[in-house]
Amino acid sequence: MYQTPVALEPPLPPQAYCDAEFAERERQQVFLPAWHLVTTHSAVAKHGEFVALEVLGVPVVVRNFDGELVALRNVCAHRQSIIARKPSGCSPTLKCPYHGWEYGSDGKTRKLPGATNFPKFKHDEYCLDKFLVEQCGDLVFIRLSETGPSLREWFGERFDLFAGWFSTGKYAQSMSCRFDMAANWKIPVEGSLESYHIPCVHPQTFHEDPGEKPSTHFFYPTGTAFQTIFLAPRWIDSRLRDVERIVLGILGIRYTGDYDHHHVFPHLLISHTDSLSVAQVVIPVDATHCYTLAMQYGIEPVKPNFFSTRVARRWGKFTAWLTRTILAEDRDIFPAVQAGVQGARKPGILGRCEERLHALQKYVHDRVHGIVVTQVVEPTTLPSDSPLQAPCLSEVAHD
Ligand code: FES
Ligand SMILES: [Fe+2]
Repeated sequence: MYQTPVALEPPLPPQAYCDAEFAERERQQVFLPAWHLVTTHSAVAKHGEFVALEVLGVPVVVRNFDGELVALRNVCAHRQSIIARKPSGCSPTLKCPYHGWEYGSDGKTRKLPGATNFPKFKHDEYCLDKFLVEQCGDLVFIRLSETGPSLREWFGERFDLFAGWFSTGKYAQSMSCRFDMAANWKIPVEGSLESYHIPCVHPQTFHEDPGEKPSTHFFYPTGTAFQTIFLAPRWIDSRLRDVERIVLGILGIRYTGDYDHHHVFPHLLISHTDSLSVAQVVIPVDATHCYTLAMQYGIEPVKPNFFSTRVARRWGKFTAWLTRTILAEDRDIFPAVQAGVQGARKPGILGRCEERLHALQKYVHDRVHGIVVTQVVEPTTLPSDSPLQAPCLSEVAHD
């Protein structure tokens, strides 16, 4: 059942989806204190393995230094070349490709070719900013602000649930993908907070909106959730369900048919079924562009042997293909929504089934308009008296 008895007015106006000033306020108050899913431990499990990406305009490299996962600003302290140029890889040292400066896990230089060119070199000043790194299960998150909630606080009461859904041993990563989208970040997030669009956008894959009767919405201080059982109205759906039952039987897992979807404010989405877990983050690039990273895990057999492990891998491959197909179907509608909000004269309306969107919009509204303010301190290596010092919003208040 849904919780609201009436349709709702959206807390955010259409301008919130295209205005650069609004996007900057979101960056400061919504995203800098938040935790961003950037990779998985499985992807950087060995010494030297790294991923490099841009988070809120900040180039970041997350690298395994002898077992320790470290996130550093991916900008050389010498003359600001990007250090790790590939999105992922493995290198014996973290070395700038321009003049060869090498860095350690503390962000300080380890090797400086021609060091006599830099007399009285200040190791503490010419180093890389370091960002906080925390894990929930196999998922790796970073936070750009030096202050803010811990990852456990950010997840709230659902932390242990999610850690279990992404724990290696019980699950194995089966897919990771990235989509760039010409849309404000809220458009793809909102698209995954309702199933009302399913018949139009996913006619072949999901096919049918389960509707209100088998569905329940949950609201937490840190986000929302949706639980349902998907119907199997077509022959293909019921055959697929039969196959899933057989696969789970081989893996030694009980079949329930439950589907859980969670949203952690502002931009983390987690789906879970009997056989898989998916984590998806949507990171803003500017007011009208964003990208999403999705990481999927398949359940492992309770008693692994050659046959059950092979079945788990095959099922993992199939469900990974299905997830990528569904994400691509969603991605294709977002530019039309973006063009629409830019041409809108007045706010739209949220149906009862879209009440989770209302919760997200209120979360953003309250932070952008200063009703809830979080202390934000961006890491910087600039001297503390520099006029170029990064912004520091020190006021803390709660509604
Ligand atoms: S810019 Fe990196 S070593 Fe010169
Ligand atoms: Fe969708």
